[in-house]
Amino acid sequence: MPLEFPSPHEIDRLIGSSAYRDSRHPQSASTHNIVTNWFAARYGADRCIDEQPFTSGDFGNVQNARQNHIVSRAFSGKTLLVGEGNFSFTASLVFDHHAIPMSITSTIHESSRDISDDAKTNVRKLSRVGVTVLDNVDATNLDRTFHHQKFDTIIFQFPNAGSREPNRGHNPNYVLVRGFLRSAVEHLRQDGEIIITVVNSSYYDGRFRMDEAAEYAGIKNFYAIPFSPGDFPSYSHVNTNDEDSALKEHQSFETWILQP
Ligand SMILES: C[S@@+](CC[C@H](N)C(=O)[O-])C[C@H]1O[C@@H](n2cnc3c(N)ncnc32)[C@H](O)[C@@H]1O
Repeated sequence: MPLEFPSPHEIDRLIGSSAYRDSRHPQSASTHNIVTNWFAARYGADRCIDEQPFTSGDFGNVQNARQNHIVSRAFSGKTLLVGEGNFSFTASLVFDHHAIPMSITSTIHESSRDISDDAKTNVRKLSRVGVTVLDNVDATNLDRTFHHQKFDTIIFQFPNAGSREPNRGHNPNYVLVRGFLRSAVEHLRQDGEIIITVVNSSYYDGRFRMDEAAEYAGIKNFYAIPFSPGDFPSYSHVNTNDEDSALKEHQSFETWILQP
């Protein structure tokens, strides 16, 4: 008897289920297979039911997608991205790594009227496959947009306040990050994580003061791991103003994992 093709509603339910979100759940692998194959069938990705969803070298420069912490988090329940600029990091998660579009909400601080043509193209592509795309989202005031909504992972790639003017006596980037962390902790599900990627240099450490920002937000567990832009082939980082691109100007980057 042919298997019934699950409805979008059913897939949404599965993405919210513990079988999907908890890799230790006995039905974890089969639930991930159903969801992955539903998207493959619906959006034409070249995968089939019995194929291993991820193998080494499948995705451009990605050697083993599942080993990339951000990618594996994007497969663990609902993900929110803030300050996405041109949406190309989200596009990489969805189109390079086949993260589940319906589990992703991708946002920018600006109004959609003010975004680049590249950003508009990514918005169209992402919306078409089921990503929720929102503008006017302030990472330091997530309540205003998300009210009581919670996520498993909240990601901010290369936060930059776009100003050098001290804010209440502090570096504006430190103020941005600590405001983001304080807001994000209120929108995390149990075992949720906040992820922030920055340039790895003592100069940037001084600007963000991640330890102090985490402490300000009441986060006790945090650590940094290396970030390789090559793992995200479709990612074309953008800058807040006309500053030089951090990815072009620097070679070493780190991703902070913060677990309240
Ligand atoms: C260096 S850009 C990085 C953009 C994108 N994340 C990337 O990696 O290409 C910094 C981003 O932070 C955003 N930003 C600054 N303040 C923000 C805020 N309060 N809420 C959300 N985003 C903010 C800017 O709009 C800008 O897109």
